[in-house]
Amino acid sequence: VAADEEAADLVAAAPDVGVLESWVSRREDGEPLAWILGSIAFGDVEVHVDAGVYVPRAQSLGLAVRASGRVPSGGRLVDLCTGSGAIACWVSTSRPDVVIAASDVDRRAVDCAVRNGVDAVVGDLDAPFATAAFDVATAVAPYVPSDELAFLPRDVTRFEPRRALDGGTDGLGIVTRVVGGAARLLRPGGWLLLELGDDQDVRLAPVLAAHGFELVARWRDDDGDLRGVEARRRG
Ligand SMILES: C[S@@+](CC[C@H](N)C(=O)[O-])C[C@H]1O[C@@H](n2cnc3c(N)ncnc32)[C@H](O)[C@@H]1O
Repeated sequence: VAADEEAADLVAAAPDVGVLESWVSRREDGEPLAWILGSIAFGDVEVHVDAGVYVPRAQSLGLAVRASGRVPSGGRLVDLCTGSGAIACWVSTSRPDVVIAASDVDRRAVDCAVRNGVDAVVGDLDAPFATAAFDVATAVAPYVPSDELAFLPRDVTRFEPRRALDGGTDGLGIVTRVVGGAARLLRPGGWLLLELGDDQDVRLAPVLAAHGFELVARWRDDDGDLRGVEARRRG
């Protein structure tokens, strides 16, 4: 928590002292700052985040930047597990020529993404979309192993939806389904970008290969921790 910065944001946005006091009290209780203020900066894009919707993390920006660089001119990108639509918003701002579609299983998230200008629909992963319709697929899917949820910050587990975080026993339950869905959605040569952590790149490699993907690159943060992978559909 960057308390001084958060305090400055609250003071700047509050219309009066009464509202400010109620906002400070909500924040002290652990409610995400983005829900209180109604938005958060994702890189250079301001994203609306409604209460109940996963708050986009700065760590996911690298995925958006890489995805933006992988779409051909006038190409098509699908953002699975879109949440507030932060990834789609960022790509759409940096690449206005790209046609973007998105899905999320949570109606509140989809409403929020639509409010952010994203063409998002309620649905299970790839189910709403046509086969081989996209050049790039992105997903910040839930990837925290169920028994590691307890180690996340208390504010996160108390407020943010479990369905946005819980990746099942090994953390790769939904991610594995994303890989299968992306194999159907992507044209041959299309790119899949996934946010991952720990050693999930190693454990996901056979899944990617089994679905016809070549694991081309992985990226890490400044601490050397894995943040994601880029894979290319063969053919
Ligand atoms: C970690 S959040 C990421 C949200 C957004 N991409 C971001 O970076 O801010 C994961 C999202 O996946 C959605 N989700 C979970 N299971 C899903 C499924 N089976 N199909 C579609 N979306 C799903 C959750 O509702 C949640 O919004």
